[in-house]
Amino acid sequence: MNQTLLPFPIKLLPDSINITLQPYLTTKRGVLFNSDCLDLLRSIKSESIHCIFADPPFNLGKNYENGLTDELEHNEYLEWVYAWLEESIRVLVPGGSLFVYNIPRWLIDIGHFLSQRMTFRHWIAITMKNTYPRGNNLYPAHYGLLYYTKGKPRVFNKLRVPIPVCRHCGKEIKDYGGHRHALNDEGLNLTDFWEDTSPVRHNKFKTRVANELKPMIPERAILMSTNPDDIVLDPFGGGGSTFQMAEKNRRHWIGSEVGPCEPIAERLQFFIGTEFGVPIASILRAAFR
Ligand SMILES: C[S@@+](CC[C@H](N)C(=O)[O-])C[C@H]1O[C@@H](n2cnc3c(N)ncnc32)[C@H](O)[C@@H]1O
Repeated sequence: MNQTLLPFPIKLLPDSINITLQPYLTTKRGVLFNSDCLDLLRSIKSESIHCIFADPPFNLGKNYENGLTDELEHNEYLEWVYAWLEESIRVLVPGGSLFVYNIPRWLIDIGHFLSQRMTFRHWIAITMKNTYPRGNNLYPAHYGLLYYTKGKPRVFNKLRVPIPVCRHCGKEIKDYGGHRHALNDEGLNLTDFWEDTSPVRHNKFKTRVANELKPMIPERAILMSTNPDDIVLDPFGGGGSTFQMAEKNRRHWIGSEVGPCEPIAERLQFFIGTEFGVPIASILRAAFR
């Protein structure tokens, strides 16, 4: 385990549980572990998390600088995915939400697995730019974000997006068939096709090896499916976009990242000015076994 950003060790699990889990950093709202996601999930009590946002490696042979291979056999990859999905379902509260971001190839199997255990809500298509076709294939132009709930959704906040305008002249693109006046001033209802997720990244954060998500993606998932003070868990921290958005929107959060955690600490410090090394929030402590 890497050095932590904590001034003191924190004991979260009783001795009877054979998992070593020492936080890497704590904030007033969150706790991050430099550990494997299965160790984290297995340390969490059943029915204690409100939302899980998971953006795992896609098994495309990327170098995440975490010492793990991103090129498993087809079935081996899916077995690993099913293991953390099973644990994710266990730790969600009734009505809690699970979002899984991946390429369509894997989401087909993931959706099949989840549909036997959870309630399907949406397959959200998110435009993917600057890709290239591999071999004899169509040009891939979208990623998918699967959205399931554990039974009937506990929270569903309707989100609105600004009315689209031409980026050259600034005028609205559509005439809404003469019904423009009937549109809500706060914008259009968010659809299941997201092509407006422009990067909101600062130059400083563009050089990570593992591509971090545009923060708007986890932010929408969080806003849609949780209320302030709820707990969001992200098993694959990466550059920390989920944690940044949880902090920004006043949600509690728990995360793991098996590779370097420094980029997450830097991001939280840069965007949020987060104070580290504080005692763990009681609502988070109560989520551990
Ligand atoms: C696609 S990236 C996530 C990016 C993240 N959503 C963001 O926006 O920054 C996947 C991350 O999962 C991490 N990872 C891979 N296997 C893991 C495991 N078993 N447990 C925890 N983290 C893991 C990788 O090191 C990588 O940083």
